[in-house]
Amino acid sequence: MTALLSVRDLYKRYGEMPVLTDVGFDIPKGEIAALIGANGAGKSTLFNILGGALAANRGTVLLDGEAIGGHGPERVARKGVGRTFQTSAPYRALGVRESLMLIAAASEPAWRRMLVPLGSRPRDAADAALEEVGLAHLADATAAALSYGDAKRLELAMALMRGPRLLLMDEPTAGMAPGERARFMELVTARAAERGMTVLFTEHDVATVFGFAARVLVLDRGRLIADGTPEAVRENPEVRRAYLGDHAPTNAL
Ligand SMILES: Nc1ncnc2c1ncn2[C@@H]1O[C@H](COP(=O)(O)OP(=O)(O)O)[C@@H](O)[C@H]1O
Ligand SMILES: [Mg+2]
Repeated sequence: MTALLSVRDLYKRYGEMPVLTDVGFDIPKGEIAALIGANGAGKSTLFNILGGALAANRGTVLLDGEAIGGHGPERVARKGVGRTFQTSAPYRALGVRESLMLIAAASEPAWRRMLVPLGSRPRDAADAALEEVGLAHLADATAAALSYGDAKRLELAMALMRGPRLLLMDEPTAGMAPGERARFMELVTARAAERGMTVLFTEHDVATVFGFAARVLVLDRGRLIADGTPEAVRENPEVRRAYLGDHAPTNAL
């Protein structure tokens, strides 16, 4: 079986400092995977490479067998990689529905817009996306007025609207209360299951990682030290050392 995302021998340095070394993994289509690791481990760097914003010094990134490494964020997005960021509010002054309508209009191919006037298509697409993330009741609010959790839902709708095959989410639930975290991740996993979408997310909250990821990848100082089921990763001695020191209780991870 071809993996949806296949990463091989990635190496990245900033100046002389290596930040990712020999990173390789495969994520099958439809899997929900978490990337964890201490601050500075290289998670954001890896996400930036996968999303096309950064080029690796060596190695390959394949999406469904096609090389996307070093192609730039816009081209990688068109190939089917969506992203949400830890902090972003791109259209705060706009209405919630309006901000989605802009994306709907912009993501139509030019030939289609020339042949058939946009008409109500952007609005219909925006309303469908709002339904998908449970924000239909806030369609007329301004984005700036949204609560933190609702802003995250809007950001998710914006990413989903482009129909990603792979969704990269950098700390999607940072700053949320525990109950809200679980509701948000339930929403993400439900939308992913419907669409057959693959998700890779970074996360500091252990309960969220082990509650929602079928697969956990652990980065430690730029190296992948574990890659497996949550249960296997939880028992991995190297992970326990890297994360917890020698004397930490088993249930801390
Ligand atoms: N643009 C940059 N230039 C130089 N060093 C960087 C840059 N971005 C990150 N780093 C360094 O690379 C390492 C990995 O950072 P990062 O990928 O942000 O890790 P994480 O997201 O896991 O916290 C850190 O030591 C960080 O200081
Ligand atoms: Mg980071």
